[in-house]
Amino acid sequence: MSRLLKSAAALSAIALVAACGGSGSDAAPSSAAEAPAPASKPAPATTPAPEPAADTAAAPAATPAAAPAAAPGAPSPEFANLPAPYNTADYARGRRTFKLCSSCHLDKEGAGNLVGPNLYGLFNRKVGTEPGFAYSDALKNADFTWTPDHVDEWLTNPREYLRGNRMSFAGVRKPEDRLALIAYLMTETGYEPPAE
Ligand code: HEC
Repeated sequence: MSRLLKSAAALSAIALVAACGGSGSDAAPSSAAEAPAPASKPAPATTPAPEPAADTAAAPAATPAAAPAAAPGAPSPEFANLPAPYNTADYARGRRTFKLCSSCHLDKEGAGNLVGPNLYGLFNRKVGTEPGFAYSDALKNADFTWTPDHVDEWLTNPREYLRGNRMSFAGVRKPEDRLALIAYLMTETGYEPPAE
């Protein structure tokens, strides 16, 4: 071991001598001093980096667009009369996803309110107007009529969609779960296409 170390030390000593001894190589350092220009070029050299980053940013952006196209499996007959894309949703998935809501919401006509308002007749109903339910100001002061699109946005992120509302629910993250749930709600709560 120690012999190896010694010989290594000896070798590096030789290397040092060799490095210093080459006085004729003075020209090399001076040309290296002019080199700083190429050395400062790393800045442009780093510009390629953002491009791969942009590529990876574009990839996730493309994924959601592809997701709805991937969602349709065999269409559920229960949803056959719904407008697209809800007619492509999976009934079993919708019914299953509604279990996330049913601790707080009933969806049968006249069944009354729980922690949350009854959802029968939700579509085409003005936000915050189910009789007998004490809404937060956030919902009372909101001014729109529930459409499938509004429900989709609401369920994507309830807290952000109407700030200050009292629905303590994190949301439904997967687009295909929301699609199926909204289709399920449409069939269960008496959805009718808006008269136009
Ligand atoms: C923990 C209880 C709870 C859960 C779970 C819950 N909600 Fe709610 N929801 C509420 C409450 C409370 C309100 C009223 C909020 C307010 O007044 O600020 C509400 C309001 C709503 C409204 C607005 C109704 C109206 O009359 O304007 C919709 C739509 C809704 N919820 C749908 C859902 C759906 C669909 C789910 C399941 C994915 C769900 N909620 C899960 C408690 C809940």
